Amino acid sequence: MSKIFVDACLGKETPYTPVWMMRQAGRYLPEYMAVRAEAGNFLNLCHDPKKACEVTLQPVDIVGVDAAILFSDILVIPDEMGMDLSFVKGEGPKFSDPIASQADLERLIGGEEAASRLTYVYDTIKLIKEQLAEDKALIGFTGAPWTLATYMIEGQGTKTYNVCKKMMYSNPELLHNILAKVTEVVKLYMEKQIEAGIDVVQIFDSWAAAIETEKYDEFSWKYMVEIAEYLKEKYPHIPIIMFPKGIPAFYDRVYGNFDVFGVDWATPMELAKEKLGDKYVLQGNMEPCRLYSKEATTESVEHIQSVMQTKRHIFNLGHGILPDVPVENAKHFVSECQRVSKK
Ligand code: CP3
Repeated sequence: MSKIFVDACLGKETPYTPVWMMRQAGRYLPEYMAVRAEAGNFLNLCHDPKKACEVTLQPVDIVGVDAAILFSDILVIPDEMGMDLSFVKGEGPKFSDPIASQADLERLIGGEEAASRLTYVYDTIKLIKEQLAEDKALIGFTGAPWTLATYMIEGQGTKTYNVCKKMMYSNPELLHNILAKVTEVVKLYMEKQIEAGIDVVQIFDSWAAAIETEKYDEFSWKYMVEIAEYLKEKYPHIPIIMFPKGIPAFYDRVYGNFDVFGVDWATPMELAKEKLGDKYVLQGNMEPCRLYSKEATTESVEHIQSVMQTKRHIFNLGHGILPDVPVENAKHFVSECQRVSKK
């Protein structure tokens, strides 16, 4: 049976434009909060294939999206490279041992050994594939090497990125060595996700906008493209979605062998269509806070539809859904996308 989401990623005609939401498995769903409470904490939930499978399927059943996204986190990669990850309540992710030198980097586990430690992710994928309806797709994902490196170097989320930028301008060789080591792990990690059964790959470069346009290719995009080229050579039928958040000034220079370009909410869809719409299928891009109002949601969905006209498009938010959005409004977004694009 064909999957509407996979067909849309490959630019084929579909009966309507499929829709999913970044961070669709999460705290706005009371059913998610119940399973997380049973698990004890967020990382336990990531490590438990049965529970991770359950929360992956929740938005498909409850909200009606056309694709599931694997429940995990981008930071399980540095965790399994040997860094010490914790999620501090109210403060987000923390590494107690950030990378500050070549010696720190050399202590980290790389390549096949690191990718092989992520068995709970592959087990989760196998369970999801047993239970997911045949016409729905499963999206696997990774953080871009740059976005992962920001946490590995800063030790936590940051507003200024001053520690990694100090490295970028005063010791670029060390930053490149970190990015190259992470890239090797990501290639093998995504390959193993594909072997376990995912239908589509998304690479999240959530912190792309922290890099000046002149340096974006050197420190992030070229590594993302390297990952895409590696996967496309082995698995040409698996669509790849790139989501570099907040870099419209780079759109003229976008290149590489991938299928879908994710547009963030601050970039007008008209601009993305003009610069990239002939080369790539576009995904996005409703401002996630419009979900607080059904009227504001419908207005945006109709606008995006009028720009994209049911062609080479996937509906999504322009970044993740927030925890205090009413579930009913998320359902409204999904049904509106399906309504306005129905042929
Ligand atoms: O999209 C999905 O539904 C799948 C699951 C998913 C999570 N994280 C679950 C999660 C995905 C795809 C991610 C990716 C991720 N993780 C990114 C890139 C995507 C983006 O939104 O830009 C980033 C930057 C991270 C790192 C991360 N993980 C942060 C900064 C935080 C804390 C912020 C927050 O929202 O609390 C997390 C925790 C996290 N990852 C939660 C979930 C559901 C919240 C944990 C909880 O309290 O239950």
